[in-house]
Amino acid sequence: MKLLFVGAGYVGLVSGTCFSDLGNEVICADIDSKKIEALKQGQMTIYEPGLKDLYERNAKIGRLKFTTDIAKAIKESEIIFICVGTPSKPNGEADMRYVYAVAEEIGKNIEKYTIIVDKSTVPAGTADKVSKIIAEELKKRKAKVEYDVVSNPEFLKEGSAVKDFQNPDRVIIGSSSEKASQIMGRLYKPLARTERPIIFTTERNAELIKYASNAMLATRISFMNELAFLCEELGGDIKVVAKGMGFDTRIGSRFLHAGCGYGGSCFPKDVKALAQMLEHYGLSSNIMRAVDYVNERQKKSIVPKLKKFLPELDGKKIAIWGVSFKPRTDDIRDSPALTVIEQLQKEDAKVVVYDPEAMELAKAMLKDSVEYSKGAYEALEGADALLVMTEWDEFREPDFDRVKKLMKDTVIIDGRNVYDPEEMKKLGIKYQGIGR
Ligand SMILES: NC(=O)c1ccc[n+]([C@@H]2O[C@H](COP(=O)([O-])OP(=O)(O)OC[C@H]3O[C@@H](n4cnc5c(N)ncnc54)[C@H](O)[C@@H]3O)[C@@H](O)[C@H]2O)c1
Repeated sequence: MKLLFVGAGYVGLVSGTCFSDLGNEVICADIDSKKIEALKQGQMTIYEPGLKDLYERNAKIGRLKFTTDIAKAIKESEIIFICVGTPSKPNGEADMRYVYAVAEEIGKNIEKYTIIVDKSTVPAGTADKVSKIIAEELKKRKAKVEYDVVSNPEFLKEGSAVKDFQNPDRVIIGSSSEKASQIMGRLYKPLARTERPIIFTTERNAELIKYASNAMLATRISFMNELAFLCEELGGDIKVVAKGMGFDTRIGSRFLHAGCGYGGSCFPKDVKALAQMLEHYGLSSNIMRAVDYVNERQKKSIVPKLKKFLPELDGKKIAIWGVSFKPRTDDIRDSPALTVIEQLQKEDAKVVVYDPEAMELAKAMLKDSVEYSKGAYEALEGADALLVMTEWDEFREPDFDRVKKLMKDTVIIDGRNVYDPEEMKKLGIKYQGIGR
């Protein structure tokens, strides 16, 4: 099938590339000409394990193309996936202007039956709105063109996006059109398994499933982070508590990790958007607001932990391991590390950062306000403390003798609970994890 992905970011680039690998003819389009030029030159614009291999294989045989000429690509495609951002407005509501701009562009250009897919995370009711915008544009052109709008939210996780795309837990297709549902079913058929089904439902349900899923995952994290506070007060260990909870088959062990808070481009904005949606309909959103509140508090709890060891941060050298919001991605959007860096800078600490993949994006955002290290150990030279903010594999088993030799004072705040407090004690390291 001829597919167009409008928005060649994390979602558009990954799903477009993966669909091309399934034998479809794919065009990824974006208004960012620099991004498209880089992709045409064979440069990956994001770090995502396994993506480059798939990209090379499919681009080489001409099955995966890139363009800024969105109008032309719309005319040539059978299915158009809208994959642009839906960031938070100041009140938490999803900012839909990019989605609507693409819908307008589609209405201006479609010439034959086309399926338009909302793949971006969008509030309930968006499929109707997108359909209306296209209808209005067609009316202006006095054109009669058939089309269907489908809601097909994306569930890939950054860091394992290719694997997630190829082995989705489920595929959600929301459509009231029999024809569109059948075509979408055919497109996704190679990925469906008995225990990993395609669920056909309405547009509204599909839109709600996406927000509900992200909000549930964020809720589990905030729930554990709140319990972590209690563990610290009572001398409990949140990791043991989580383990004991996780063996209950009704609960399960995943997403029970306490840490320095969730970040990224999805959970923070989707929790806020769901809260705003509830309030829009006159309902109070006690749970979502609390999830968001606990997360903000958690992100801000790292520096106070550090100050228990180093009350005066002025002029102190603080090393940060990990800037990305989670491992195996270079995405730093809403990363807890950014909150911590800001707090440290307010106290005039000297911050040196290292991340295996996110250095370029960190430099673009933080400019020369921090020092950048070329390696994890180099960041520790003369440091007064180390804050572990992302659980990259290379931070899990460091050579602690080397760490101790390099650092001026061996204070470690472990925002991801990767180290064992007992071992730290034996090594003579001043250590504090989360909820332990
Ligand atoms: N990143 C994730 O892990 C993830 C997972 C599931 C769902 N989502 C959702 O998918 C959507 C996209 O997220 P993302 O992380 O890929 O965003 P992104 O910021 O990485 O990419 C969005 C791209 O859209 C482009 N764009 C904006 N307006 C455009 C227009 N009018 N025409 C063409 N291109 C345009 C931007 O230049 C950018 O390259 C969001 O709604 C997000 O919530 C993201």
